[in-house]
Amino acid sequence: MSLPTALTPVVVATALLVGCRAPPPTESAGHALEPPVEAVDLDPSPGRLEVELVAERAPDGTYRYSGVRPGPTLRARVGDRVIVHLDNALDVPTTIHWHGVGVPNAMDGVPWVTGTVGPGERFTYAFVVERAGTFWYHPHFDTARQVDLGLYGLFVVEDPAEPVIPELLLVFDEPDEGPAHPAHGHGRLARRWTVNGIPAPAIHRLAGGARLRARILNASNSAYLWLHGRDLELVRIAGDQGLDGGSRRGPVLIGPGDRAELDLAIEANAALVSRAWSLNGGPVDWAEPETVLRLEVDRPSPPPPPPSWPHTGRSPTADPGRTNIVWTFAGSDRTGRWTIDGETFPAITPEHLPLGAPAVIEVRNMSPTEHPFHLHGFPFEVLSIDGRAPATQQIEDTVNVRIRERLRLFLTPDRPGTWMAHCHILPHADGGMMTLLEVEGSD
Ligand code: C2O
Ligand code: CU
Ligand code: CU
Repeated sequence: MSLPTALTPVVVATALLVGCRAPPPTESAGHALEPPVEAVDLDPSPGRLEVELVAERAPDGTYRYSGVRPGPTLRARVGDRVIVHLDNALDVPTTIHWHGVGVPNAMDGVPWVTGTVGPGERFTYAFVVERAGTFWYHPHFDTARQVDLGLYGLFVVEDPAEPVIPELLLVFDEPDEGPAHPAHGHGRLARRWTVNGIPAPAIHRLAGGARLRARILNASNSAYLWLHGRDLELVRIAGDQGLDGGSRRGPVLIGPGDRAELDLAIEANAALVSRAWSLNGGPVDWAEPETVLRLEVDRPSPPPPPPSWPHTGRSPTADPGRTNIVWTFAGSDRTGRWTIDGETFPAITPEHLPLGAPAVIEVRNMSPTEHPFHLHGFPFEVLSIDGRAPATQQIEDTVNVRIRERLRLFLTPDRPGTWMAHCHILPHADGGMMTLLEVEGSD
């Protein structure tokens, strides 16, 4: 566990103040929540965001971007041109991948498409952001190790048509996870969440009742965050790709690499609690839930009324019935070999789709482990899970596939190039559970 150096004095000072209050009996005192640092925009002209990120080694041997962990939050608006200069101050190669953001193939940050950025080298990523949502960035080289050591940050793209309310940015991690091997506790339950770099429970103090838009990222390599509210109703307004068909109430599962946005109406003291979810089969009732965030309200009062979120109100698209690609996930902890269609990356056979033609991908899980499926390049709509359509249209880039489940996903591959599809349990991905999609044709 490493505290972001720049924030340490503040965190410690606040933790001491909070420590004067008697903590509830079953929980540690907690630490004051700090928002992740916002990236400095080097070009203040409108319609552009220009940022420098330095990938570097911290004194304790972990990695970080520009002195902080999580890395600086990038905040842009739909239509903005985003320019990011990556300086690699590490002694190993790295890249930046813009998880969930629709970028040209050459900006996707995957080594076999764009190469790596060597030690001491600088590379400039540039693209226009076309969709609002809560995205993130991380390396795509030696990924499990580099992300686990601390290279990740939030990337928020705002839509000016959405109501503006105070935000709560929450980046969850379970640091120092090590390889996914039984001896290292693979499949174990997350027990040591950090929130924006500090150990849970984080404490967020509010003067009175409040309504917050929480943007939540699970940056951990392999742990599932299964959020429940205590004295708080969870209303999920968005998944990975911004506001979609509608909102949903109830617990929210956020697998590795996944995001969610919540509309939280807080009146009095409340909390976010993560209940145990094993990648070996889901809910584990005998394990203690972990309080990850306490919302402490000094003077309870009713929260502001709900804003009217501009959801599309659409129902799920009717399944066209045909299937363009089937990807079957298999493998096991015992062998550490993880496959898609029996193949282990990089010895894989790419799939092909013609540019611009709507397509259906079916993902089947025949392994004894859940897998958060992630596709680069294009958002997809979840048509159905085991034949059941979601209640409203659901657009994602990362979606959990439970054991024996069959997901049908709908997309329009509108960017030419070679795109990755993989499990976002990073040791599984590094163990071979990755494949490629080639999108060909001319616009
Ligand atoms: Cu978040 Cu291919 O990755
Ligand atoms: Cu990605
Ligand atoms: Cu997996």
